Amino acid sequence: MSLARTLCRAAAGVAAPQVTIETHLANGLPGISIVGLPEKAVQESRDRVRCALQNSGFEVPKRRITIHLAPADLPKQGSRFDLAIAIGILVASGQLPQPVSEELELYGELALSGELRPITGILPAALAAQTAGHSLALHPDNLPEAGLTEDLTLYPVPHLLNLSAHLRGRTPITPATRLSATPVVQDLPDLADVRGQAHAKRVLEIAAVGQHNLLLIGPPGTGKSMLAHRLPGLLPEMTRTEALETAAIASVAGYPPDPARWRQRPFRAPHHTCSGVALVGGGGHPKPGEISLAHHGVLFLDELPEYDNRVLDVLREPMENGTITIARAARSATYPARFQVIAAMNPCRDGYYGDGSERCQCTPDQVRQYQNRISGPLRDRIDLQIQVPAPRHEELFGETPTGESSAVVRQRVQAARERQQQRQGHSNALLTGNKLEAHCRLQQADQHLLASAVDQLGLSARAYHRILRVARSIADLAASDVIQCAHLTEAISYRQLDRTGH
Ligand SMILES: Nc1ncnc2c1ncn2[C@@H]1O[C@H](COP(=O)(O)OP(=O)(O)OP(=O)(O)O)[C@@H](O)[C@H]1O
Ligand SMILES: [Mg+2]
Repeated sequence: MSLARTLCRAAAGVAAPQVTIETHLANGLPGISIVGLPEKAVQESRDRVRCALQNSGFEVPKRRITIHLAPADLPKQGSRFDLAIAIGILVASGQLPQPVSEELELYGELALSGELRPITGILPAALAAQTAGHSLALHPDNLPEAGLTEDLTLYPVPHLLNLSAHLRGRTPITPATRLSATPVVQDLPDLADVRGQAHAKRVLEIAAVGQHNLLLIGPPGTGKSMLAHRLPGLLPEMTRTEALETAAIASVAGYPPDPARWRQRPFRAPHHTCSGVALVGGGGHPKPGEISLAHHGVLFLDELPEYDNRVLDVLREPMENGTITIARAARSATYPARFQVIAAMNPCRDGYYGDGSERCQCTPDQVRQYQNRISGPLRDRIDLQIQVPAPRHEELFGETPTGESSAVVRQRVQAARERQQQRQGHSNALLTGNKLEAHCRLQQADQHLLASAVDQLGLSARAYHRILRVARSIADLAASDVIQCAHLTEAISYRQLDRTGH
């Protein structure tokens, strides 16, 4: 046979389109040429494969070898095709007797010795292979990640020779056994560590219930960052589907998911000096950014006014529609980015404005300037905005127990989330249009109340809807089908930045 076909998959965002590697041997000047939009690392695979074959005792045929990566119009990058190319050459040159099964996909970079190396982004490929009913040959280090799929045969291949012996039927490789039911590690910071701050804890709970964005404003050292780090501990575990989506993004970004923690919601805290690309994603081959790594989880923006305004502005679109498309000259990629924002800031540059002491030297103008660094549209997208004042001395140093643990609060959050799931199939933060009107209906008197609050605070239509969603979450927490007046007034009270008028 002088023609062989092997299978692999390319990486296109979180998708993994099938690639067929066709290898053809012909008479002519000896050499290897790769066609089908291969990028640099794929081109270099010629040299790696040649050395790996020689060092494993195979012969590199002294013929004209053409390798076509089909479909031709799909760009291919990275070193993941090495193994499939090497096996293709072996089959085409008759050094492996049979054609390779149409159901086996081959993944791996080859070392010059013929050893295999793991690749990044195996999970999207494994998920797609599972859907296609295929099996996978891959480096043992890629097993934990590929093993997150439920029903997929995985052949660990440490060396090219192992796979060739397997394909010859001499030494079959035993498929990897799955790490079943890995224990979930619960090592998240606990809410009980935070003393006092009952009000802030209540709001944190509401944010967890409806997946609402939350802004904490207060003087230094009152526990804002502490509280933010405790949000993931209040959130229910991700469902399997959610966790697979999030893990696939991490995999593409080069962070193999940890099977012991992969159901925990991500918590990403990019520093305020981070660039727009780091935050939303980008690069020549667009990689996911922090907002996509936070998919189904939390994005923590500490010291919010310190972020570059242009960087914050790029958040506006994904905050609204839950995806981000990164368009570059050569190609574009769309990544999911459905995240919950928790942000913290001081009320002014000194940090102590409005705390009742004389410490703040800022003029009202300076305070306004500082707070205005957060643009109106971004503010509008933050449902809950509250002050976190310094805890009282006796709260901080008293002997009294500190309050509920995260586990207790999480149970309430879970129950309220189930109500939302049953009613509308998603969290309250995502309610729009007809659904918003249907599920957040107010009683007559309450409609007037909200209308006058909107007038007084000068709120936008978006802020109006956000109040309704928060009120819905408060009602869900109280297991109430209707939004009552108390729920509504509480929701209105959480638009702190609007109320200070800055
Ligand atoms: N309410 C609290 N209960 C227990 N410890 C607290 C509390 N508030 C602050 N602390 C202690 O103070 C430290 C600083 O808290 P944290 O970093 O959360 O403050 P912050 O409000 O984020 O301040 P900054 O505005 O300076 O960022 C914590 O690590 C903790 O030890
Ligand atoms: Mg802080």
